[in-house]
Amino acid sequence: MELNKISEGKTKIVYEFDKDHVLLRFKDDITAGDGQKKDVLEGKGVLNAQTSAFFFRLLESKGIDTHYVGMMDERTMIVKKLKMIPVEVVLRNIATGSIVKRLPINEGEIFEPPIVEFFLKDDQRHDPLLNYYHMEYLKLLNRKEAEQIEDIMIKVNQILSSFIKSKGLILYDFKLEFGRLGNKLVIGDEISLDSMRIRDNSGRIYDKDLYRKGQDISIVKASYEEFLKRIIS
Ligand code: CDP
Repeated sequence: MELNKISEGKTKIVYEFDKDHVLLRFKDDITAGDGQKKDVLEGKGVLNAQTSAFFFRLLESKGIDTHYVGMMDERTMIVKKLKMIPVEVVLRNIATGSIVKRLPINEGEIFEPPIVEFFLKDDQRHDPLLNYYHMEYLKLLNRKEAEQIEDIMIKVNQILSSFIKSKGLILYDFKLEFGRLGNKLVIGDEISLDSMRIRDNSGRIYDKDLYRKGQDISIVKASYEEFLKRIIS
């Protein structure tokens, strides 16, 4: 089948499919630092496609709207065509990453209730933090939509956190991207170890922080594999 490329990002390619759907092909590339660090991790595309598909199905089974429809092949998802909003929405249960650099918060502090943050998707500006006023002014999201997204983030967190806990692991934080389908806000993009932080009780890291911190890419791959095996078993 001849595929028409619509767009290509750092780790995924979007192809035309039909009037209401596109294909999302997960590449083997792994990047960090707004794309400054980059490697090819053979098989990573399949792992992230499978991990994302698993979590999208889990969310759909609990009544959360996602773009997921099915798989075209092991690394290619059939998804609903959304009007994507260039905002990254992060929910944090435990402090790590950018928040401990930005604010007087210590690594490992527990957020009860969890903290939700919005960032502009803009590598050149290093994804700046947004508030409701910025989002309204930039015509990204109005306040009502932003609040709807916060509610979805809280629900998704309950589902993901308790599932991940049942596997003996801890969800530190995760990032989602949203799109519009008619007047509905729908989860798009991916839900994988590239977009969430997972550790165990001993503090062992399973996610892309391994790569961010300079671990050998064979170790990163083994960890992504182990995580997928663990969630599907
Ligand atoms: O990754 P970094 O420390 O720069 O940013 P963060 O704000 O601490 O990241 C919070 C969560 O969002 C982590 O699970 C990241 O993996 C995820 N994230 C992402 O998926 N894409 C980005 N561009 C930035 C963060």
